[in-house]
Amino acid sequence: MTADVQHLRRTVCTFGRTALSVAVLSMLLSGCDVEKSVTPAVKNTAPIPSIVEKNGRFALMVDGAPYLILGTQMNNWSNYPSMLPKVWPAVEKLGANTLIGPVAWEQIEPIEGKYDFSYVDTLITQARAHHVRLVLLWFGTWKNTSPSYAPDWVKGNNHRFPRIVDPKGNLTVSLSPHYQATLDADRKAFVKLMTHLKEVDSERTVIMVQVENEPGVYRSVRDHAPAAQKLFDGPVPGELVAGMHKKPGTWKQVFGKNADEYFHAWHMARFIEQVASAGHAVYPLPMFVNAALRDPIKYQDPFNYASGGPTWNVIDIYKIAAPTLRIEAPDIYARDYRTFMAHIEGYARPDNPLFVPEIGSDAPYARYLFAVLGRHAIGFTPFGVDFTGFSNYPLGAKEVNDEIVDAFAAPYRLIGPMAREWAKLSFENDVWGVSEPDDHKAQTLDLGPWNATVSYRMWQFGLEAFYKGYDRPAGSDMPTGGALIARLGPDEFLVAGYRARVDFSLNDPKSKKHVMFMRVEEGHYEHGKWVFDHVWNGDATDWGLTFLAQPQVLRVKLATY
Ligand code: DGJ
Repeated sequence: MTADVQHLRRTVCTFGRTALSVAVLSMLLSGCDVEKSVTPAVKNTAPIPSIVEKNGRFALMVDGAPYLILGTQMNNWSNYPSMLPKVWPAVEKLGANTLIGPVAWEQIEPIEGKYDFSYVDTLITQARAHHVRLVLLWFGTWKNTSPSYAPDWVKGNNHRFPRIVDPKGNLTVSLSPHYQATLDADRKAFVKLMTHLKEVDSERTVIMVQVENEPGVYRSVRDHAPAAQKLFDGPVPGELVAGMHKKPGTWKQVFGKNADEYFHAWHMARFIEQVASAGHAVYPLPMFVNAALRDPIKYQDPFNYASGGPTWNVIDIYKIAAPTLRIEAPDIYARDYRTFMAHIEGYARPDNPLFVPEIGSDAPYARYLFAVLGRHAIGFTPFGVDFTGFSNYPLGAKEVNDEIVDAFAAPYRLIGPMAREWAKLSFENDVWGVSEPDDHKAQTLDLGPWNATVSYRMWQFGLEAFYKGYDRPAGSDMPTGGALIARLGPDEFLVAGYRARVDFSLNDPKSKKHVMFMRVEEGHYEHGKWVFDHVWNGDATDWGLTFLAQPQVLRVKLATY
């Protein structure tokens, strides 16, 4: 180590780190005491991550700048130290910048009032060593609606922590949101977790926290126990009446056939809000909640999905009941394009940043990254991508192997090197993104005066008509393609694609003008600045801009003649 680096390292260790890049810092800090233990030796100076909004677009701010989560979520038990060696190789192979993983209540408070944060500390220390950020999932009162990850003293004591009663008087697996004892116990543990994170994470390795996991109840729309029934027969809280622009009354009077579900959603959201806001008061990391989804196209009886969770039809209720939760986020396991698109349309709202904390691990899901980013998303995360040997087929892949990881690594290789720049463009500018539909049909995007048409299964040379009698690119029977476009100026765009061709035309059908590429540059970003590598022209532009599997990013200037 040179004297200069030693001096700089000492300076950073002493005075904090705000102004330096994360990469340089991690190199310098590898000699600091703070790095060897998760107990910080420096004052908290890195800004606490936050979610900011401007004109209905959002940015997740990390180290003071917009950050894009190109993530992976580990399996439910992979946060145990014995499992982590099988997680990191997948994170590395994938090129993920963020790992999402659980913190189970049973891990941190196995005995009431006695806390053990060793699992969290190991995860944070190892994440730092692997130069990735963490999003932690609080598996508290609800994990896929059940208290399975709550400690024995909680899930084994129905008297103190009552379960939801179905309309026939039978117990469901889910704990009820209506009991103070449950709220107090969950909230206390969550506050301890946030207090611990505040103490040990001055580096802001942890950038967001999900509060509970897929909350709700199956096979009962709400709790029918006497205490819950009494509340249901009473008035709808004034805040909700006002927020939903309704007239006061009982739940049935105000919400009619939706009364049971809205009642349960409200009480679930209020419970989660009270847990989240208590933790947020201690350490204000961005917090969110994830949804086991309701069918976005066909009617589904709430008896058959996780009623009371943040399904698309109750996002408004969550927004009123749980303002600390900045995101209602969809866990997407719909393989077909139409359903997938309907899911993201339901969650990308001017009051809700799109974040996909879970998507199936099978290869065809990887292309959905493009459509998600086209809706100004702050992140995308396939679920269960680790090498622990478990796979959740038919939701995800049959086996999570190198081939599966590479299906996601390919678009990550394209977007990863410009993730910060993309996050900034997405926060400040118009962006578009499309994923190849199941039928491979081309899609046209309206870019204002210009249109972009994205087509698939094309070779680099020639038009569709040339290919009669020739084969299609290998592997293109399975839809894998996608494209991203960001506006850089009125006639200038950043264009990136994967197994897709992008053509431009004029939006005005009456115009007699012809479109031409004034200049197409392939390049990359360095420290936020575009670095030009070479021009695309001739064969590379005569038939449109065709992207195959190699990561190529273009700056395209259009003109007419
Ligand atoms: C959604 C849950 O949030 C995950 O923890 C996991 O259980 C998947 N479903 C299924 O593998």
